[in-house]
Amino acid sequence: PKPKPGKLRKTFRWAWRLTYLSAIGLVGFTAYNIYDDRHPDEQYEPDPNKKTLVILGTGWGSVALLKKLDTENYNVVVVSPRNYFLFTPLLPSCTTGTIEHRSIMEPIRAILRGKKAAAKFYEAEATSIDPDRKVVRIADNSEIKGATSETEIHYDMLVVGVGAENATFGIPGVREHSCFLKEIGDAQQIRKKIMDCVETAAFKGQSPEEIDRLMHMVVVGGGPTGVEFAGELQDFFEEDIKKLVPDISPRFKVTLIEALPNVLPMFSKTLIDYTENTLREEKIDIKTKTMVKRVTDKAVEAEVSRPDGTKERVEIPYGLLVWATGNAVRPIIKDLTTKIAAQKDSRRGLAVNEYLVVQGTRDIWAVGDCAVAGYAPTAQVASQEGTFLGKLFNNMAKTENHEARIQELSSKLNIESGNSAEAAQEIELLERQLKKIRDVKPFKYSHQGSLAYIGSEKAVADVSWWNGNLATGGSLTYLFWRSAYLSMCFSTRNRVLVIVDWLKSKAFGRDVSRE
Ligand code: FAD
Ligand code: NAI
Repeated sequence: PKPKPGKLRKTFRWAWRLTYLSAIGLVGFTAYNIYDDRHPDEQYEPDPNKKTLVILGTGWGSVALLKKLDTENYNVVVVSPRNYFLFTPLLPSCTTGTIEHRSIMEPIRAILRGKKAAAKFYEAEATSIDPDRKVVRIADNSEIKGATSETEIHYDMLVVGVGAENATFGIPGVREHSCFLKEIGDAQQIRKKIMDCVETAAFKGQSPEEIDRLMHMVVVGGGPTGVEFAGELQDFFEEDIKKLVPDISPRFKVTLIEALPNVLPMFSKTLIDYTENTLREEKIDIKTKTMVKRVTDKAVEAEVSRPDGTKERVEIPYGLLVWATGNAVRPIIKDLTTKIAAQKDSRRGLAVNEYLVVQGTRDIWAVGDCAVAGYAPTAQVASQEGTFLGKLFNNMAKTENHEARIQELSSKLNIESGNSAEAAQEIELLERQLKKIRDVKPFKYSHQGSLAYIGSEKAVADVSWWNGNLATGGSLTYLFWRSAYLSMCFSTRNRVLVIVDWLKSKAFGRDVSRE
């Protein structure tokens, strides 16, 4: 007779079967999602008599709203100079080629095609908003222009989700000489410039001082953007550049400059210390209490605050300069605040009430980085605000439909007497439903935590855990960071592409060819 398998072997068999089944399930689920995305249902045109809802921007706030919105209730018009949604948390990985830029972009046309009722999209920049006439002026500023490249759109309801631009604080030379890290184009430019610096440093006869300058990568701003980019850059150097350009690689250096006494001010003290120690171990030079005052084509001039309270001016030569000092208000927002009396004191964006209505208006809402609602300018906040507005607008449409039906039934009741009991019953039911629909709670942000990659396959996380907070850092946190961002990717396509990119850069190294 066949011997009975031992307990360990049995457990192993079950574990193997479970893994096997989960893998099949995952592949099946992914395949189904891909098929579903490629074969959306027939779309119909919404009723032209419905209200026109204009949405500005295709970022976190606007796209979260679109995802939730029942487009059949409105004539939806989306306007943005960018015809895609960008998954910003993985943007620093595109600067070194760990992830290819198209893997974190999702075309807005594909997002809109997935909706039940069609919505219009115009690739254009909103240049001004007239709240009195209820019109938005839009301009096509792309390379190819048609005979018409400027026009106006009327709105009944307007959502402003145009985000923010890069803060430079008017520091001379920043716009001319540094790279920002906000858009896909910025990441592509940085990727090209890193390799340009390396190849130029390797040029025959380059002087030692010039090699040191060219191989010096300076990052200004110790917020999460600056820290994540510095970490990615050092990884790139350790894992690829060092092997490919060994003769000049000892001269490669990353410096992170921060005006405050420490980096990542939004994280807990333990994680700040952990981050700074890890960055130092990675040989990133952190210069805190150092404020950049001027930028030239080859050096930054900064003011260092010494422990004795004195200030010293230093010059730091660089090959690549990345400027990551946070957000500034876009011109269109500045312009709108001057047109609304209640916004005259708003300096950081559009002040909104607890329903995200722009104060001083009745039909303009704002989400994300351009709205001042008392929260940090993060993707988490923007997407929760967008989802809130999606639900709110669905409710408003239902309310209007119910009210119209009640009015219709009531007038019928006045004229006919035949079906009066039935109509009265329906009115009662609709009124009960209306009470529930109207009971919309104000927007409340729920903070899920903060995550940041700090290089050498380590991350830090300050996350909400049960009723408390969990502050953790290291390699396990990095796995959590990866799985969290993977699950947050917009589509199955994005998820698959990001996984493939991670595997590709691990197996073959990052691609150092300069396009
Ligand atoms: P955005 O996402 O910036 O979108 C603005 C949209 O408006 C864009 O489509 C833009 O093209 C469009 N637009 C601009 N001007 C006009 C105009 N005049 N007319 C019409 N449309 C216009 N947050 C996190 O919570 N977690 C993270 O890990 C994280 N990582 C980040 C990494 C980087 C490198 C950066 C730069 C930011 C990161 N953030 C992160 C912050 C997050 O990306 C922003 O808070 C978020 O994008 C704000 O969303 P938004 O919709 O307000 O604006
Ligand atoms: P930030 O505003 O968070 O940090 C900018 C830093 O630059 C500040 O610490 C500031 O002191 C410093 N600075 C300003 N001027 C300076 C100067 N002249 N010289 C030296 N230092 C100077 O900006 P960041 O990192 O771009 O982030 C913007 C927003 O996006 C934040 O709300 C952030 O939380 C969010 N974000 C979140 C991420 C995450 O959660 N992983 C990643 C990236 C951004």
